Amino acid sequence: MKTYKALYIEETEDGIKQSIATLNLNHLKKHETLIKVYYSSLNYKDALSATGNKGVTRKYPHTPGIDAVGIVMHSNCPDLVNRKVIVTGYDLGMNTFGGFGEYISVPTEWVVPLPESLTMAESMMYGTAGFTAALSVYKLKQEIKPNDGPILVTGGTGGVGSMAIRLLSRLGYEVHTISGKEKMYPQLENWGAKQIIGHESLLQEPYKPLMKGLYAGVIDTIGGDFLAAALRFVKMNGIVTTCGNIRGQSFNASIFPFILRGIRLQGITSASCDYETRTTLWTLLASDWKFDTLHEAVKEIQLEELPESIDLMLQGKSMGRILVKLNRPKD
Ligand SMILES: NC(=O)c1ccc[n+]([C@@H]2O[C@H](COP(=O)([O-])OP(=O)(O)OC[C@H]3O[C@@H](n4cnc5c(N)ncnc54)[C@H](OP(=O)(O)O)[C@@H]3O)[C@@H](O)[C@H]2O)c1
Repeated sequence: MKTYKALYIEETEDGIKQSIATLNLNHLKKHETLIKVYYSSLNYKDALSATGNKGVTRKYPHTPGIDAVGIVMHSNCPDLVNRKVIVTGYDLGMNTFGGFGEYISVPTEWVVPLPESLTMAESMMYGTAGFTAALSVYKLKQEIKPNDGPILVTGGTGGVGSMAIRLLSRLGYEVHTISGKEKMYPQLENWGAKQIIGHESLLQEPYKPLMKGLYAGVIDTIGGDFLAAALRFVKMNGIVTTCGNIRGQSFNASIFPFILRGIRLQGITSASCDYETRTTLWTLLASDWKFDTLHEAVKEIQLEELPESIDLMLQGKSMGRILVKLNRPKD
């Protein structure tokens, strides 16, 4: 039986154990499409899954990795065989063995053909972070135009935040961002951020339920008190997208921004995004929305380096995107 390498997370008496294991292919649950994975990427959800978070992964042993790009080895859809494909979201890396393994086996309906103008590595530079930023921008863009006012992005140096800044700038929006990493301010400016605000400025006292309306929209990646605080700065009829829960799963906010300024809170769920929007967004990311700085702030690592990167991400010290190389592509 063929073997493959994977990050393997086990529950032991001493707690969660992370190792690089050699597994038999029959370790993968049998779905219709088997993919040889060339790249994956590290997202916050993977860091949670790799450290035993039952809200993400119910059962261990497990291989995380919510993103994968690779070549189809066999499938019930003959057109897909030997094609380069992307799989992001759905249940990949949650309760289905994920992209931190050299092979994945997935339902065929999860598989998106890789657009021709994107390399496999580039697709994972975006990964779920880029896709989520694109979905947030796509929702915001339906109502807010560049001349309606600036857009605030929280978690500026993070995977989703850094992608959202560059996408919005590419599309002509004025972008302001919140970041706790002062030494990254020049990089954020280079990506298009016109104003950068420190974490403490957002929460500073006196904490009024409504502040001067500065932003036509917000792309919030942090949640908790950051989301509540950001709502106060949104202009009349603004849109706030919410995708992350780094500062908590709940928030305590005033009703005033909703009933006095008519603002709207738009939830973002990339994992269960419908297939049509999914393919539309990947096509845009490969063409009109592709930005020149995609290769910046990307660190490429091997499977063996994942535990250290996961640790840094959970400490809030990650920056940009971590690309995980599993097999060497010929292109
Ligand atoms: N709903 C969805 O479909 C979806 C999809 C993807 C991700 N997400 C969620 O979105 C969030 C962000 O994901 P990501 O991949 O961008 O994570 P990431 O790469 O780890 O970036 C998060 C950023 O948040 C900031 N941050 C970290 N800890 C913080 C703290 N304690 N207080 C305030 N700011 C803090 C940091 O930026 P600065 O230092 O620059 O402030 C950090 O770079 C996560 O909760 C993730 O699970 C949701």
